[in-house]
Amino acid sequence: MNSPLWRLAEAAAAMGATPRGVSEAQINGISIDTRKLAPGDLFFAIKGENRDGHDFVDQAIEKGAIAVVSIAKSFTMPQTHRLLVVEEPFEALRRLGRAGRARTKARLIAVTGSVGKTGTKEALRQVLGAQGKTHAPVASYNNHWGVPLTLARLPQDAVFAVSEIGMNSPGEIRPLTAMARPLAAIITTVEPVHLEFFPSVAAIADAKAEVFSGLVPGGTAIINIDNAQAERLKAHAMASPAGRVVTFGTSEKAEIRLASLKEDESGSDVVIDIFGRRLSCRIGMPGRHIAMNMLAVLAGVQALGADIDAALGALRTLVPPEGRGARIALHPPGGEAVLIDESYNANPASMRAMLANLALLSPGPGGRRVAVLGDMLELGPESPRFHAELLEPIARAQVDLVHASGPMMRHLYEALPSSRRGHYAATSAELEPAVVEALQAGDIVAVKGSLGSRMGRIVQALRTRHGSPEEWSRPPC
Ligand SMILES: Nc1ncnc2c1ncn2[C@@H]1O[C@H](COP(=O)(O)OP(=O)(O)OP(=O)(O)O)[C@@H](O)[C@H]1O
Ligand SMILES: [Mg+2]
Repeated sequence: MNSPLWRLAEAAAAMGATPRGVSEAQINGISIDTRKLAPGDLFFAIKGENRDGHDFVDQAIEKGAIAVVSIAKSFTMPQTHRLLVVEEPFEALRRLGRAGRARTKARLIAVTGSVGKTGTKEALRQVLGAQGKTHAPVASYNNHWGVPLTLARLPQDAVFAVSEIGMNSPGEIRPLTAMARPLAAIITTVEPVHLEFFPSVAAIADAKAEVFSGLVPGGTAIINIDNAQAERLKAHAMASPAGRVVTFGTSEKAEIRLASLKEDESGSDVVIDIFGRRLSCRIGMPGRHIAMNMLAVLAGVQALGADIDAALGALRTLVPPEGRGARIALHPPGGEAVLIDESYNANPASMRAMLANLALLSPGPGGRRVAVLGDMLELGPESPRFHAELLEPIARAQVDLVHASGPMMRHLYEALPSSRRGHYAATSAELEPAVVEALQAGDIVAVKGSLGSRMGRIVQALRTRHGSPEEWSRPPC
């Protein structure tokens, strides 16, 4: 049997909690959401904006929670006496996260950046996982609860750990990186994302660079040297506890340098100069942006003291995380089509990256390159311009048809030449039937928008109508 994640007494001590109705037990996991709770988990009754976890305590116990971290109060079911009483459960989670970090020797790498955090995190999980026990967050668990939750779940005997750290405004990353105490920290790139909350892209760079403040003394700061903010990031790194700055990119100055890139529809063949060694490998996911992220991964591998050659081999079998480029075969009348699911998120940088990838794919006989685009959110007053400016990469990618939804995408739609105009609707729900109807054999259809634009429903509708039989009963995502 696996050793427990925590012994109850040990977790209680770390949180300064008072056990009530429970003395010794083994905790196998940590949960803050009863819908995802597994038997043996310790449940934290956290008060969110809309809901209070204390309303779900009975449910948590019913589902097999080993105990509940809660404020002192009575619950309706007698079983709920299995409590770890604290003053504030969220603070208790942070304490357990810090304790989880403190007790392990795992070599931890933090990943932040305007785009590519989760993709980079998943690649690190895969590459490091082949070399030793590796812990990484679920999905995009990168915020004020995602980071401590992931650290509280960190197995004591992990050899490597990855922490994704995100933010919407200045000052958010600093406490999270202080908790994670990374040995190395990557900033994938700095782009105009969440611009609504920042006066400039330079201000975004400053906020991202907070990640370096939590580095253990002598740790490694990993920076994209091609980025316009590189010098600014470097200055922050120099002022941080980092002992080393490692750069990646295409510039001659990069220590991990992309010497050549040959893209095809299923991946890229790359030649990389790593600290003076020239190595080549196959990356199993298409896109120049993915290759750039993989340079950061290799910098991370090196900084953690893992094996570079083994890592290069592991890049061959990368798989896109859900909603970030997964390809799905569709079967419209008369032939086959390909759906590219990019519905997880969108901003100007990732839209361009997606369109560049679309250009690599050749439609089947009679088919077209089709882009189904929803609004990119949180772009501030310049948002209409960011949308209209997609005209150029759309033309470059030789997209034949654009369907669009949302008030911002209207700016793009109206700028399109009539030959490229498909359907437009105010919402993805209204656009959905037309997109499903318009699918033709041979088409390659890429669907992308910010999560709040709900383009996932169009992906789901295409899968339900044109996917394989096993798709028909999939729950909506
Ligand atoms: N370096 C990059 N440049 C441009 N686009 C990228 C880059 N890396 C990834 N992308 C694209 O950005 C989108 C989001 O990727 P990913 O989920 O990895 O980012 P993230 O930073 O984790 O996002 P979030 O802030 O939502 O957690 C995907 O469509 C992906 O293909
Ligand atoms: Mg993410």
